[in-house]
Amino acid sequence: APPPEAPGRQNLSGAAAGEALVGAAGFPPHGDTGSVEGASQPTDNGFTPKCEIVGKDALSALARASSKQCQQEIANVVCLHQAGSLMPKAVPRHCQLAGKMSPGIQWDEVRAQQPVDGPPVRIAYMLVVHGRAIRQLKRLLKAVYHEQHFFYIHVDKRSNYLHREVVELARRYDNVRVTPWRMVTIWGGASLLRMYLRSMRDLLEVPGWAWDFFINLSATDYPTRTNEELVAFLSKNRDKNFLKSHGRDNSRFIKKQGLDRLFHECDSHMWRLGERQIPAGIVVDGGSDWFVLTRGFVEYVVYTDDPLVAQLRQFYTYTLLPAESFFHTVLENSPACQSLVDNNLRVTNWNRRLGCKCQYKHIVDWCGCSPNDFKPQDFLRLQQVSRPTFFARKFESTVNQEVLEILDFHLYGSYPPGTPALKAYWENTYDAADGPSGLSDVMLTAYNAFVRLSLRHAAAAAPPLATPLCRFEPRGLPSSVHLYFYDDHFQGYLVTQPVQPSAQGPAETLEMWLMPQGSLKLLGRSDQASRLQSLEVGTEWDPKERLFRNFGGLLGPLDEPVAMQRWARGPNLTATVVWIDPTYVVATSYDIAVDADTEVTQYKPPLSRPLRPGAWTVRLLQFWEPLGETRFLVLPLTFNRKLPLRKDDASWLHAGPPHNEYMEQSFQGLSGILNLPQPEPAEEAARRHAELTGPALEAWTDGELSGFWSVAGLCAMGPSTCPSLELCRLTSWSSVFPDPKSELGPVKADGRLR
Ligand code: UDX
Repeated sequence: APPPEAPGRQNLSGAAAGEALVGAAGFPPHGDTGSVEGASQPTDNGFTPKCEIVGKDALSALARASSKQCQQEIANVVCLHQAGSLMPKAVPRHCQLAGKMSPGIQWDEVRAQQPVDGPPVRIAYMLVVHGRAIRQLKRLLKAVYHEQHFFYIHVDKRSNYLHREVVELARRYDNVRVTPWRMVTIWGGASLLRMYLRSMRDLLEVPGWAWDFFINLSATDYPTRTNEELVAFLSKNRDKNFLKSHGRDNSRFIKKQGLDRLFHECDSHMWRLGERQIPAGIVVDGGSDWFVLTRGFVEYVVYTDDPLVAQLRQFYTYTLLPAESFFHTVLENSPACQSLVDNNLRVTNWNRRLGCKCQYKHIVDWCGCSPNDFKPQDFLRLQQVSRPTFFARKFESTVNQEVLEILDFHLYGSYPPGTPALKAYWENTYDAADGPSGLSDVMLTAYNAFVRLSLRHAAAAAPPLATPLCRFEPRGLPSSVHLYFYDDHFQGYLVTQPVQPSAQGPAETLEMWLMPQGSLKLLGRSDQASRLQSLEVGTEWDPKERLFRNFGGLLGPLDEPVAMQRWARGPNLTATVVWIDPTYVVATSYDIAVDADTEVTQYKPPLSRPLRPGAWTVRLLQFWEPLGETRFLVLPLTFNRKLPLRKDDASWLHAGPPHNEYMEQSFQGLSGILNLPQPEPAEEAARRHAELTGPALEAWTDGELSGFWSVAGLCAMGPSTCPSLELCRLTSWSSVFPDPKSELGPVKADGRLR
């Protein structure tokens, strides 16, 4: 039977992606790696390999790699491999046991109550994080913190906002440190193992950090048992290493995991370079790269001059998802092999039907899988595991914060009545210190327009006598932008902007809340309850969580929007989706088949761009009767390449697609049955709009945007000339409002923060 962490295991179309039950590897992608004829010809970059490269995978990688440095590295690796001098051929095995050992430790509630021998263990927590979810990370740290433990944090080199925040928080606790070096730890990359090995060495060498166990966590993990329970359990199992194995046929695992393929990481990509042999003499194993390791084993891995470790390090330098197999393989062939427990003490929310969609093929030449985020309905499953477990993944507060609240309260009790912001979640999406590279033209346009709309609102909403005091001019770019969620619903953007009062007074900083206005209309016919639950258009569709990661749905003429429908169960049906541009051009029309149990359908029509700016309509019809309709905005851009839009750019960027054709095929014949109005006035307006620049363009952009967004509030970061502005600190939606669940205070008498 599949282990409990693989509840929804299902095969993907023939590719059997559900096989790797605890790890992330899936299967090789097909048809996306190209194939290149030719050998040691100079490439476009004028670089010549040192040997004749013959393998199809290697040639494909060379053709796709864009930097000369990366091409050179790929060629060097392949040439060494072809010469037989890259990979170890045989590796010594020191384990005295034959085959897999250790039945695993059962959760023994009786034994768990008994007193522990020796001092309680101390844990080195390795937090491996990326992204921007600092508030969830703080919440995690708060939940696992104890003054007796140690915390070492690696932040992906690309996640600078998170790094700044983490450095700030580490300053406040002696036992929290941030790696003084950083790597670009791409998904599944060889760099993840390099990062672990370097961090382990650091952790062994911090003076005074006398830890007994190493536990890695990501920012999407959360404990499922208290610190006391974990410490008691580990104190009774001081000499065990906890690593979860795939638990199936080993040769199948090797294939699924791509262990018999050579990979090399460069240009933030794992290139598949061809086949290789598993070294003789050892047993390779693997599964999950979330583990709990003894200090003794970490010391062995870091310091031994045993050829077992040296050669496996070499082998795993060229391995996809190396951390899912390196530690298993070292341990199981080492003298300490009997210390293995086949349980990583975690629950992982695998749902391979959703999580194995080959979503990482732009990062790794392989189809990888990811676990799903937990939701409140999964809570029981979090607890009903027969083996001992102490952590679970994944959790994302932008997807569901309620389950974290349930879990956190279950562990450490609820917060006192009246505690603010328990249902609120803020996530930074832009910070001025990110520099201009943190902003796309769409974001730049939208945030500036949000500020203009808000400042106009501030003056208009002020009492008549105060109006002159409530006029402000923006000064420069926003200093930060947050996504704001309440009760697990997106509430809009919070833009923080330095401003100058138009009347006299010093500069101020205001925060402005822009809330999306829904535009969905469900038109289910009365004779038949419609299955359609919602209809949305957006970008950054996440097939795993089945939502748009571009939460605010801001998009511009160069984007490639997706239309998504959610369905209740019901009879099979075929629906027609029609996209109508702001001048009533029927851009596309297509049918979708909706089976009885289909929950979500989504499609990205291959429209020619630029899309015409303005309000678009997407209609969903059945037998040409409307089921639902939504509008979405293609934002007219006031910036191009981060500079104010110029007339010659506007005349193509805002003029719609070449020849007014979104597709080769015309769908204009549908305008009658769709009952569309005469297009001439809209066409005339569009022609005028495409000429606009400067303030007139801003006015158009603001007007379009205000059809989709409303100003829901403004507050002031400090004292303001405008008497009607509240202090943000006292404003419940503001990003500076107290958020105790994510605030780290002084260490309490019991050694904890939570
Ligand atoms: C799955 C497996 O659960 C995990 O064991 C395997 O390492 C990767 O695939 P998934 O949710 O897909 O997990 O990966 P994710 O949590 O996003 O990333 C794994 C680790 O790499 C995390 O610690 C994450 O912070 C880090 N990472 C990932 C980065 O540092 N940078 C990235 O760009 C991506």
